[in-house]
Amino acid sequence: MTTGSLVVADLVIAVLATAGWLGGGAASAARRRRLALGLAVGALLATVARAVTITALARAGWWFAAEKVLVAAPLSLAGVLVAGPRLLRPRGDIRSAAVPLLFAGYAGSGALLVTVLHGYPVSAGAGLLAVAGVVTATAVSWRALDARPSRGLSRAALVVAVAALLTGTGLAVAPGAAPAVHDHDYREARAVGEPTRRFTLTAGTATVRVGGRDAAAWAFNAQVPGPELTATVGDVLAVTLRNRDIGRGVTLHWHGYDVPNGQDGVPGVTQAAVLPGQEFVYRFRADQAGTYWYHTHAVSDVGVRMGLYGVLVVRPAPVTGVDVTVPVHTLAGRALPTPRTEPVEAGVPVRLRLVNTDSTTHRYALAGTPFRVAAIDGSDLRGPTPLVDTAVLIPAGGRYDLVFTAPATPVALFVDGRAVWSTGAVSTATGGWPSLEPLSYGVAAAVPWARFDKEFTLVLDRGLDLRGLLPRYAHTVNGAADPDIPPQLVRRGDVVRFRIVNRSLVVHPWHLHGHHVLVLSRNGAPATGSPLWLDSFDVRPGDVWEVAFAADNPGVWANHCHNLPHADAGMTLHLMYG
Ligand code: C2O
Ligand code: CU
Repeated sequence: MTTGSLVVADLVIAVLATAGWLGGGAASAARRRRLALGLAVGALLATVARAVTITALARAGWWFAAEKVLVAAPLSLAGVLVAGPRLLRPRGDIRSAAVPLLFAGYAGSGALLVTVLHGYPVSAGAGLLAVAGVVTATAVSWRALDARPSRGLSRAALVVAVAALLTGTGLAVAPGAAPAVHDHDYREARAVGEPTRRFTLTAGTATVRVGGRDAAAWAFNAQVPGPELTATVGDVLAVTLRNRDIGRGVTLHWHGYDVPNGQDGVPGVTQAAVLPGQEFVYRFRADQAGTYWYHTHAVSDVGVRMGLYGVLVVRPAPVTGVDVTVPVHTLAGRALPTPRTEPVEAGVPVRLRLVNTDSTTHRYALAGTPFRVAAIDGSDLRGPTPLVDTAVLIPAGGRYDLVFTAPATPVALFVDGRAVWSTGAVSTATGGWPSLEPLSYGVAAAVPWARFDKEFTLVLDRGLDLRGLLPRYAHTVNGAADPDIPPQLVRRGDVVRFRIVNRSLVVHPWHLHGHHVLVLSRNGAPATGSPLWLDSFDVRPGDVWEVAFAADNPGVWANHCHNLPHADAGMTLHLMYG
């Protein structure tokens, strides 16, 4: 069983146990003896089963089990100790079992709330608040159900509840360390030489044709995607961004391109958003060849979804053969690009540059020819071998370059089962193909560093964020949401290792700006294929990734989930050079 499915199984069992105790309590209050006993025995069995799932999660990593071991286990144990003996003496008025069973149910609910609303890392405050809730709910039920509750006990319960509540709240609101991302001055234009490639991108609202219908969009130069920007290694790019009428502002972020910090296009961090009527000129030298993309980083969730994106391709030399980019996007619920058929003569080399500009993973399948994955996220792979009938899963923001020599027969590229580019009609069902495991594809090389100067762990989860004006159910990193996640501090020259743990129930496509990370391992299994230098990778539920990078590009860099609604809902932090 994968850790991801263990997390789900444990949650389901916890819900069942809690529902069983609460249902048993309600049935006893209603004097429905058989139902009450049945539900309580079910709850007891589920609680015992949880001992297994919690142990397994703790073995997968403390991050997955911390609050379950420290809060849920003691609360469940208390529930079993109080309610269990009632089941051993089933004679007498079943109504007397109601409060003990309800207590076990409240204990289960309290622990569940800690998992669902608070997550990792566990805090004493959250544990005490749960205890206060359990004691209060039990005391209230007791008064409601029992005509003669013992005075001493009700007083004791009140004292415990109030004490737990006060301590818990105190601990929960205690000021945490949340240093702001200061305005460092990395903005000065670095001397990059005279521009050799100039582009102008004008952002504005537009109506575009997609899937045969008109859709309202935000577009660069009135087209979605925006113009394809191409350059040759060594070119100096000057890209003028103008904003015609996007009220919330725009910027250009060069996704995967490790530009100097001042050109990175993150509003509030590396520049101010470009408002209607304003402009900003980005300048950088194209030193890295490969497939990249650009997009607005101002209200990026809405902006990118509405169409403010395009492709950036840097070629090592003039193109030989056929070189096609396929940026996939969903606009107004319809899929882009519009399918295209382009006959290619047999023997001609073809490169398909696949770009996923959506917020979720897409599955790409190339039918009709063996192919190799020549590059991922712009970096060439080492010794890629030919693949047949194999799909590739590209994370949000990620790019794969597929290469092949055109055969005499037609070839087609499918995205999630839909043909988007072909050289002729192909009818192949690609749905059952296995997908490529990039961590073991190609030929390995030694990790270029012998030591790591800094280590970080990012635990991805969900939780209640009470710090803003309105409480929100945020996507969190180490229990905090943007802007309260402490930045990762590094010094120039450091070799940094960081671990990303996903204890949530959804995929988080991780994206660090300004650097490419080398994948060291996933879920304890070292990467054995070609070195993978990624800027976007899917951290699935239960995954633990270990990656490393060289801190060689000073500045303040966003480090976030590229499911952009998640990034906007808290899952953004910063890497900061000190
Ligand atoms: Cu493609 Cu911070 O983004
Ligand atoms: Cu996410």
